[in-house]
Amino acid sequence: MTDTDASSSLVDFNPSRLGTKEHWDGVYQREIGSFHEIADEGEVWFGEDVLQKMIDWALENVPPTPDSPYILDIGTGNGVTLFGLAEVGYPLDQLCGIDYSNHSVELARAIAANRGMSQITFKQCDILFDTPAHLENMSDGQGWDLVLDKGTFDAVSLGQYEQLEQPASRLYPIKVGALLKEGGMLLITSCNFTEAEIRNLFETSASRLQFHSHVKHRTFSFGGQTGTVVSTTAFVKTTVSSSA
Ligand SMILES: C[S@@+](CC[C@H](N)C(=O)[O-])C[C@H]1O[C@@H](n2cnc3c(N)ncnc32)[C@H](O)[C@@H]1O
Repeated sequence: MTDTDASSSLVDFNPSRLGTKEHWDGVYQREIGSFHEIADEGEVWFGEDVLQKMIDWALENVPPTPDSPYILDIGTGNGVTLFGLAEVGYPLDQLCGIDYSNHSVELARAIAANRGMSQITFKQCDILFDTPAHLENMSDGQGWDLVLDKGTFDAVSLGQYEQLEQPASRLYPIKVGALLKEGGMLLITSCNFTEAEIRNLFETSASRLQFHSHVKHRTFSFGGQTGTVVSTTAFVKTTVSSSA
């Protein structure tokens, strides 16, 4: 998909293996093996450049102070995004990563211990079905200051959830909105959705999210059209609903 085919506002994908917990359990089980064998921390999803741009955006828009912000990384995988934030000065004990794969949590905790960053919290949690705790001793009870998603909404949208009354791609933005404090931010990077599509799905009265800004990535041209391989979009949680 490119930025030029934003005409479809609601995009649904056919279920794929990438949307199953079994797939991610297998991925992180293998990565745990490599980590213990050769200290390989695993994949940097979307690459170092995208990760750095997300960190730069955070530094500019939600900068670290000695006791803030509280940051939640949804679908944390090997925890690479949080380790990047920790390295640039975000307080470790206010960083939390959740993932529905317990193997991801095991891997992220092992890497954290190896990096001397064990104060970062990693918890197993399915964002669609569990309520990610405003982990006691974390956040001030108002919600998170910043929620991060790097590739997780992509995976969620490829899942098949017969028990849900609405598509996961509609429920997810509501769940994320509920986790943020008023004025809190969501920064989401996707390879399956353009910025226009992400905005259509996330800017709803139920999520109370409003477009804030975007991060520019390298563009490519193909067949006379120009687009980007990934989109990174930021939203702010509003006090009142902004759109229908
Ligand atoms: C593409 S990977 C990205 C991992 C990580 N964010 C990164 O940048 O390396 C997608 C992640 O989402 C997690 N995930 C998928 N569905 C989830 C759900 N319903 N709740 C929590 N985590 C989920 C997967 O286990 C996987 O770690």
